[in-house]
Amino acid sequence: MRPKVFVSRIIPEAGLKLVREACDAEVWPDVMPPPYEVLTEKVKMVDGMLCTLNDRIDAALIEAAGSQFKIFSQMAVGYDNINAKAAHARGILIGNTPGVLTDATADIAFALLLAAARRIVEGMEYIREGKWRTWEPLALLGADLSGATLGIIGLGRIGEAVARRAKGFDMRIIAYSPSKKAEDVAKLGIELVSLDELLQQSDFVSIHVPLNDQTRGMINADALGKMKPTAILINTARGPIVDQEALIEAAKNGTIGGAALDVTTPEPLPSDHPLLYLPNVTVVPHIGSASQRTRDKMATMAAENLIAGVNGQPIPNQVKPS
Ligand code: DGY
Repeated sequence: MRPKVFVSRIIPEAGLKLVREACDAEVWPDVMPPPYEVLTEKVKMVDGMLCTLNDRIDAALIEAAGSQFKIFSQMAVGYDNINAKAAHARGILIGNTPGVLTDATADIAFALLLAAARRIVEGMEYIREGKWRTWEPLALLGADLSGATLGIIGLGRIGEAVARRAKGFDMRIIAYSPSKKAEDVAKLGIELVSLDELLQQSDFVSIHVPLNDQTRGMINADALGKMKPTAILINTARGPIVDQEALIEAAKNGTIGGAALDVTTPEPLPSDHPLLYLPNVTVVPHIGSASQRTRDKMATMAAENLIAGVNGQPIPNQVKPS
């Protein structure tokens, strides 16, 4: 009998095709993610689930899973929506999609950095509002990248990919990444510093750590207060790493120069949220991995993890119990 699986969203055909060929698959048909109650019913019946970062997979949901249930295959590298400890305690596998979205996410971090530095969104607004009357020596002046210091919090795959891009722009690169060795990152032209040094010295601070108990609220009012009044904060990791209320205050009162965010709290951000109406803050709707090629690869990798998992085989990308 073919394994039964639930796919919690319509994902790119590259992955869906693999799942349909190998499994008896039910695909949630809506644009909006399935309600929690639906997920709870599905885990009682299926052998595995291909899920996304929208699905809350907490201890109660994991508890509800039947003994046949083998794997949550997440179509993302981040899996903070899954209670990994509870899943592993029940012997349920977790798959994720590292590597394939490194470049796309580094690209969006750099796109946000450039947009904020050179006031791209404000510039377009300026034209829309009919303010563009002449070439103005003093209008919309932004920040230079060359010679500026970029501080990278978290030198994993994505942090390193951001550093490679920054080198091409002649930036000085410093990083806070406790698990790295100074001699290893020196080869990449990166200097390791403490978090305080990074916050104090950087013209741009870019966050590339996963969300967990150590990183939640890491960039709070205290951390923002250590940044330069001209510095720009870029977050393409997870919204709750930044204390958003503190960020709004800091961007409003000039504690920092501004921010550019791909991730927020909550997601989606309501269209009347104050963060969207600050001239020095740019927000995009969690599109870091949203290129066709990257999403095809993520869907393929998530499908491969799912298929291996439901068949009792080693999965290509497993989140290991910590
Ligand atoms: C991830 O893979 O964690 C990304 O946030 C999805 O875009």
